[in-house]
Amino acid sequence: MSESAGGIVSDRSSESVQAGFPEGKRLVVDAYLERLEFSRGEPVDGVTEAMRYSLLAGGKRVRPVLALCTAEALGHDPGAVMPFAAALELIHTYSLIHDDLPAMDDDELRRGKPTCHVKFGENVAILAGDALFAEALRLVTSRQQGDPADVIAALDELLLATGASGMVGGQFIDIAGEVKTADQLTDMHRLKTGRLIVASVRGAALALGAPVDTVEKLTIFTAELGMLFQIIDDILDVTGSDADLGKPSGSDERHGKATYVSTFGLGRARELASESHRRVKESFAAIDLRGDVSGLQAVSEYIYSRDR
Ligand code: IPE
Ligand code: IPE
Ligand code: MG
Ligand code: MG
Ligand code: MG
Repeated sequence: MSESAGGIVSDRSSESVQAGFPEGKRLVVDAYLERLEFSRGEPVDGVTEAMRYSLLAGGKRVRPVLALCTAEALGHDPGAVMPFAAALELIHTYSLIHDDLPAMDDDELRRGKPTCHVKFGENVAILAGDALFAEALRLVTSRQQGDPADVIAALDELLLATGASGMVGGQFIDIAGEVKTADQLTDMHRLKTGRLIVASVRGAALALGAPVDTVEKLTIFTAELGMLFQIIDDILDVTGSDADLGKPSGSDERHGKATYVSTFGLGRARELASESHRRVKESFAAIDLRGDVSGLQAVSEYIYSRDR
């Protein structure tokens, strides 16, 4: 489906992501998110409408699906971490709403639709992001089952991954515009994108009380996976189309962003992605997992080969 600027470019909520991606889990996540109710009160309907608009616009759901696949790889029912998984997607969506604001990346297209601030105004978009963050935490505190100490450990991981030592810190490094070296670029990517990918797997493992050694090995694997995710995001910003990506291609260059492509060139960025993909596979192979690992493997491959 496609339409003129300002309208729907593609209906991403009904599209499958890509062969190999655990599509069934994505659909389960979508259905869970769809059922969430953020308020019952008329006076605040304006903000909950904006929250649902961005949340249900049809993201790939990589982070919650990673959490469900982690449960499965550890020999649990994926549903055991569903509230935590949904919380990841609420936080990710909040980060996208704020990332697109005029004061940040100033983008007008997200998930194939006009961005939240274009549709509802900047003031409502800011509040929608804030509320998604709070609702995410409530999902964990009110719905996540498990030993209370394990649930708190998962929540702590989520908060660490989101705050100044995580996503927000990485976003700050990005807007500060001081990234000059490859090491600084890697640090920025590790925080702004990598850290929440780590938390998707690490948090799920903590919620399920996984052994320390397994959690540490999963952390090494996902630290690399998170880097790979953002290297590919940087490449797709150059090679993808608006319709494929559901967001404006060329945004990074227009805003003079430091990316893997601006720093290394497209050819070298692709080589670095390939090297990172190799390390992802090696670090995954080093983990002793008793359950079904096919989901985690499939998502890892998807993160490397995706075209949106
Ligand atoms: C985009 O994330 C923002 C980054 C962290 C690079 P995704 O590529 O996961 O976006 P959605 O959720 O599918 O829209
Ligand atoms: C943003 O990175 C990462 C977030 C924490 C939202 P980008 O600015 O590259 O993400 P896109 O390309 O707009 O999705
Ligand atoms: Mg950005
Ligand atoms: Mg952006
Ligand atoms: Mg990007």
